[in-house]
Amino acid sequence: CGIVGYIGTKREAYPILIKGLKRLEYRGYDSAGVALINTDGSLNVYKTKGKVADLEAFCADKNITGTVGIAHTRWATHGEPSSVNAHPHYSQSKNLAIIHNGIIENYAEIKHRLIEKGVKFRSETDTEVLVQLIDYIQTRKNLSLLEAVQLALHQVIGAYAVALLDRRNPDTIIAARKQSPLVVGIGDGEFFLGSDASPIIEYTDKVVYLDDGNIAVMKLGQELKVVNILNEKLSPEIHTVDINLGQIEKGGYPHFMLKEIFEQPECLTNCMRGRINVDHDRVTLSALIDYRSRLLSAKRIIIVACGTSWHAGLIGKQLIESFCRIPVEVEYASEFRYGNPVVGSGDVVVAISQSGETADTLAAVELAKAKGAFIYGVCNAIGSSIPRATDTGTYIHVGPEIGVASTKAFTGQVTVLTMFALALANAKGTVGHDEYVKTVRGLAEIPAMMKEVLKVNDKIADMARTFTYARNFLYLGRGYSYPVALEGALKLKEISYIHAEGYPAAEMKHGPIALIDSDMPVVVIATHNGMYEKVRSNIQEIKARQGRVIALVSKGDTTVSKIADAVIELPDTMDCLEPLVATIPLQLLAYYVAVCKGKNVDQPRNLAKSVTVE
Ligand code: G6P
Repeated sequence: CGIVGYIGTKREAYPILIKGLKRLEYRGYDSAGVALINTDGSLNVYKTKGKVADLEAFCADKNITGTVGIAHTRWATHGEPSSVNAHPHYSQSKNLAIIHNGIIENYAEIKHRLIEKGVKFRSETDTEVLVQLIDYIQTRKNLSLLEAVQLALHQVIGAYAVALLDRRNPDTIIAARKQSPLVVGIGDGEFFLGSDASPIIEYTDKVVYLDDGNIAVMKLGQELKVVNILNEKLSPEIHTVDINLGQIEKGGYPHFMLKEIFEQPECLTNCMRGRINVDHDRVTLSALIDYRSRLLSAKRIIIVACGTSWHAGLIGKQLIESFCRIPVEVEYASEFRYGNPVVGSGDVVVAISQSGETADTLAAVELAKAKGAFIYGVCNAIGSSIPRATDTGTYIHVGPEIGVASTKAFTGQVTVLTMFALALANAKGTVGHDEYVKTVRGLAEIPAMMKEVLKVNDKIADMARTFTYARNFLYLGRGYSYPVALEGALKLKEISYIHAEGYPAAEMKHGPIALIDSDMPVVVIATHNGMYEKVRSNIQEIKARQGRVIALVSKGDTTVSKIADAVIELPDTMDCLEPLVATIPLQLLAYYVAVCKGKNVDQPRNLAKSVTVE
């Protein structure tokens, strides 16, 4: 879910809130709502099922005046997407309105208690329980809103980022955070609030990232006050953000996803800046300098991640094992955290996360840390929760990623993992000098190679049309290309809703081959890498069963090109760097199939970009 808030005197809140919600819509988009303290002093809540644009239409004839408000875009957890379940939620007295991102785990028990005391509920959400509880405590005990929030949060188990308005105190917004992100923007006599900095940066570059357990009191005419539930005063650190507006706008592309696919050469240049030195054929990562002995002595590396980041982890495993000769395990963070994992002080845990906020990955980090492992983060969102919880790490620096289907973050993650493997291997002496230099140079050339590969855009746009009929797709690859196949399949299913599976090519004969017929497109990564001959035989097996083959081949390939139904050429690169180029046509294929099918590419149904619930 996405949270926005504004309190000031000179500006109208509504336009700021709506614009902010649009920036955060990637976080959830099944319903949206806004609460405003109008110029007449009333507290009004407007909310509706659907997207932010639907909320705007709904508000067209409403009183949207006022300089104080909070707003929310939802990704449903408890209660189906509907106007009633949308946020903000009022308390029974209608004095308070709340927005919430996260889950109140013990809501049923609190709800039951409140119902016994006569409180009436309107929605099925866990969020309404929290606002009713705060109101109940405040009224019963005649406390200030802050005191009531503190007492209520004492009783709550779960994760939250919340913001509250009180009709009787229109000069204050209170916000609190535990495990779900919140950023406060500090303006001149005004405050902004966001789930990330994107709704804020247009107005101020001064932000405070709230920590777990922080409660922020944004009161007009006063400085930002941050306390904890015990009312101890904390001193928030004010950061200057350096994201510019251009980075979070579409810049002439029809979708964020296409913009982000095309940005990859530039993103990877940024990712390698100051880290790869081509004059001296060297990779330098500051984490590896600061924590050299800790990383060098790793007996084992465990990678934890979810979704696309997990796929990057599978490539990371191959890179680290082959260059550093350290055993690597790759775990889904959600399984790791509940699997009673064998992990301890000899281990290095690498947490990969674009958003830096994924609840399962964050929990895996905390568990591993508690068991004594050393934690290294590979994240994109600066200042987010995971990098703050790790011992060290490397930001991928690809800029804000808005499209829900991850593209540039994936190649950024793979780039960082490649640099990590090379730098560590060099320090350990597990890579020969020539191979090291060759790989460093090869990596430095990847952005230029990506530009070449992006020229297949029009061809793939044409090709996509002929595959929109399909109900299933299979993606095959071996070695470094196997995770690329998984990622290609994930991209397609996320945005086109066509079922797709990725498989190691040789495993096809143990199951998926049963599905192949003339309706089944099979995407095969069949470049001139170590597995070429074997993969070519797999293609024959598919063709023998009338399957339709889309092959990714090396430039100039004549053999596979003759038997495949469609061919996409890739420039030659080293095996270990190939994922960085082979991924691009698969991103474009998924994109154009979804566009041809008329799907909402940037906001696919049921998904959210940043999953802050488990
Ligand atoms: C969500 C997103 C995916 C992403 C995954 C992990 O499911 O839709 O695109 O790969 O979360 O996110 P993270 O921010 O931790 O990389």
